[in-house]
Amino acid sequence: MADQFDVVIIGGGPGGYNAAIRASQLGLKAACIEARPNKKLGGTCLNVGCIPSKALLHASELYEAAEKDFANLGIGLSGLKLNLDKMLAQKSDAVNGLTDGIAYLFKKNKITSFFGRGEILSPNEVAVHEENGGKTVLNAKNIIIATGSEVTPLPGVDIDEERIISSTGALSLPRVPKHLVVIGAGVIGLELGSVWRRLGAKVTVIEYLDRVLPPMDAEVSKHFQRMMKKQGMAFHLSTKVTGVEKLKTKLKISTEPASGGESQIIEADCVLVSIGRRPFTQGLGLDNVGIKPNQRGFIETENFRTSVPNIYAIGDCIDGPMLAHKAEEDAVVACEIIAGQVGHINYDRIPSVVYTYPEVAMVGKTEEQLKAEAINYKVGKFPFAANSRAKTNHETDGFVKILAHATTDEVLGVHIVGVGASELIAEVVLAMEFSAASEDIARTCHAHPTRSEAVRQAAMGVEGWTMQM
Ligand code: FAD
Ligand code: NAI
Repeated sequence: MADQFDVVIIGGGPGGYNAAIRASQLGLKAACIEARPNKKLGGTCLNVGCIPSKALLHASELYEAAEKDFANLGIGLSGLKLNLDKMLAQKSDAVNGLTDGIAYLFKKNKITSFFGRGEILSPNEVAVHEENGGKTVLNAKNIIIATGSEVTPLPGVDIDEERIISSTGALSLPRVPKHLVVIGAGVIGLELGSVWRRLGAKVTVIEYLDRVLPPMDAEVSKHFQRMMKKQGMAFHLSTKVTGVEKLKTKLKISTEPASGGESQIIEADCVLVSIGRRPFTQGLGLDNVGIKPNQRGFIETENFRTSVPNIYAIGDCIDGPMLAHKAEEDAVVACEIIAGQVGHINYDRIPSVVYTYPEVAMVGKTEEQLKAEAINYKVGKFPFAANSRAKTNHETDGFVKILAHATTDEVLGVHIVGVGASELIAEVVLAMEFSAASEDIARTCHAHPTRSEAVRQAAMGVEGWTMQM
């Protein structure tokens, strides 16, 4: 007799593990299957994504500050030295602490975990193929697919995770490269490029399009590139990589203008391929139940339901922003629907953050989107150079920009470049969830001296009454 569950979840990342916890809270008997050979829960995010990258961003930011900024604050240092092994070890500690934390939450919520590859055999059966060849079949009233995503490869550039690396290799390089070439000026390229630049690498970023962070507001993208350049990153925009030749001691990267033209060779000792991620559904048995991913490989859903009514899909393997907190939201809503409740999610209210120095955060529409949708809007902007806390801390780069509807004043988009942007954005996401007007933010008291006052001043700017500039 197969094990019986109300919900069998395939994948133990932020989508899968949050689904298991929420299902259990709702009184559903839940199992979660995870294929990672290390038998750790947490998915890409905890093992090779959000957490290790943020651990290295934090440590490398402090290292660079100690090297370049401490003296200006009256803090003298001598003999500053990078201990990369230790930096990588503290990153692994952070990862292990958090993955073990998920295992604890599973125990607390009486969730059964299985380690091995999950394969859907029929709408009510999922096999777990263990590494040692063993196989267990679970009986499932409902199935949630949360198998996430994988690195998009670049044809002709073979990732070996030593010299030609993906984000996974970039989280564990045993030494600082002399010259790191980053292919793709997206989130991974700029975050992990920043880590290795701060630790001493020369970093050159090659981007196919004519701007960095393409989905961001154009003004933010331009300002951000200027800041990264000032920090020492070099950019080749509107440029494509046509191949990487591996020589004994160096790599030869061939590039061409994106629109065609004369080729150029760049030499480096390490190349990071970060041109995006794609949904991962290999070996999942979708054919067994007639689910066909779309042309881009995503599983299509309506309210998280696939074409098979009791099989749901969430997170990176379905359309929408490929972000951990989006996967978590999907998980909660999908489980509430399974439990007979009304689940709701608005992808327009999912914030997006780039954890560089300073950070970039956004939610809602960009100016370009509003123009394209012919929505009339007003803009309120406030620079951190005029914010007392930012000035006090000598962290004045960046600004807050609020876009509000021209007639209703509803906040439609917020864009922040600046130290602490990742935390500042939460206030405006909440405001937007309540369909707040910019005036609601402008008339909300903010503590002084805080960077959050810049958000208020930008909101005041929408109606032209910014007071501190
Ligand atoms: P995943 O986390 O990918 O989890 C899916 C899991 O399913 C995997 O563990 C996989 O082993 C397992 N699996 C796959 N197939 C099977 C199968 N057949 N059987 C059993 N198990 C299976 N997002 C943010 O919001 N903030 C960040 O700061 C951030 N930083 C990132 C940094 C990097 C370097 C990377 C690569 C990603 C980052 N992301 C970040 C994105 C984030 O990691 C993903 O959006 C998130 O992990 C998606 O969650 P998920 O549960 O859908 O998929
Ligand atoms: P990305 O989609 O953010 O950026 C990829 C970049 O590569 C784009 O600018 C694109 O134009 C460019 N590109 C594509 N093909 C190219 C080519 N052939 N040559 C040169 N440039 C090319 O993808 P990235 O950075 O790999 O990250 C994947 C996803 O992981 C992100 O989209 C995001 O969802 C998630 N992530 C989120 C983070 C966060 O929330 N802070 C951090 C890291 C990753």
